[in-house]
Amino acid sequence: NITPLALILLDIPPMLPVLEGVVMELQDCALPLLKEVIPTDKEEVAFKDLDAAILVGSMPRKEGMERKDLLKANVAIFKSQGAALEKYAKKTVKVLVVGNPANTNCLIAAKSAPSIPKENFSCLTRLDHNRARSQVAMRCGIPADNVKNVIIWGNHSSTQYPDVHHCTVNVQGKDVAAFDMVKDDDWLKGDFISTVQQRGAAVIKARKLSSAMSAAKAICDHMRDIWTGTPEGEFISMGVYSSGNLYGVPDDLIYSFPVTIKDKTWKIVDGLAINDFSRAKMDATAAELVEERDTAISFLGV
Ligand code: LMR
Repeated sequence: NITPLALILLDIPPMLPVLEGVVMELQDCALPLLKEVIPTDKEEVAFKDLDAAILVGSMPRKEGMERKDLLKANVAIFKSQGAALEKYAKKTVKVLVVGNPANTNCLIAAKSAPSIPKENFSCLTRLDHNRARSQVAMRCGIPADNVKNVIIWGNHSSTQYPDVHHCTVNVQGKDVAAFDMVKDDDWLKGDFISTVQQRGAAVIKARKLSSAMSAAKAICDHMRDIWTGTPEGEFISMGVYSSGNLYGVPDDLIYSFPVTIKDKTWKIVDGLAINDFSRAKMDATAAELVEERDTAISFLGV
């Protein structure tokens, strides 16, 4: 199941010379599946007949900027990108929003492209998912591959809830509950959670730039799973449209859930037991998303 790719790279006009450098690097990778790279500053070129859109560009927070100012700038960007998807892309397009605040930007893009199903939109929490997986793996001294079914609930922000209540680790060929293997509930309910929640900020502090390689890897994981499906018995995390969920998360949000994917269609994993500890954390991140959404929607008409 190998699909050759044509990559279309959209940027604003002053960035086109920089984009040329990216094009050269992509060519120089001699990637076997990359058949074409097209740089452009025109939405009608970039969005035409797209199968997959990865929206990475957003307004980063600058010094002295309030969260609200940031949201306002991003509502303008994602309203315009949603409208371009509506106008030019295939109705089957799968849209992944990465630019922060990713969940709310994704919701605005979805609302601005009414003829594309809401289910086609998702936001990236796979990076947080991979971070959680890796933290547990390092703690157990096993490869990250041997850790499965961590969950990221909610917002791709510091209120997200990395949950290991359904996570298993594979040791000597046997799946064991993460809690039983780690044997340190205080860590799993404390520093583990805050490390994952704060990881983006920690990377920025160390690199003076936000995560790049790990974000790119997570984007590849996310899109590959949409195209090829999730392995039997495993779920992954992604921000998806919340309406109709059975976990009591308010409707009309892009909220990160555990999902399985088949035939390019995601499904929220139902029936997972939620204890009071988890419930409170899932509700807190939902409350933040409701507030972000309401503020963002108030800017939509402006
Ligand atoms: C990350 O999680 O690494 C980024 O979303 C952090 C950021 O604010 O750019």
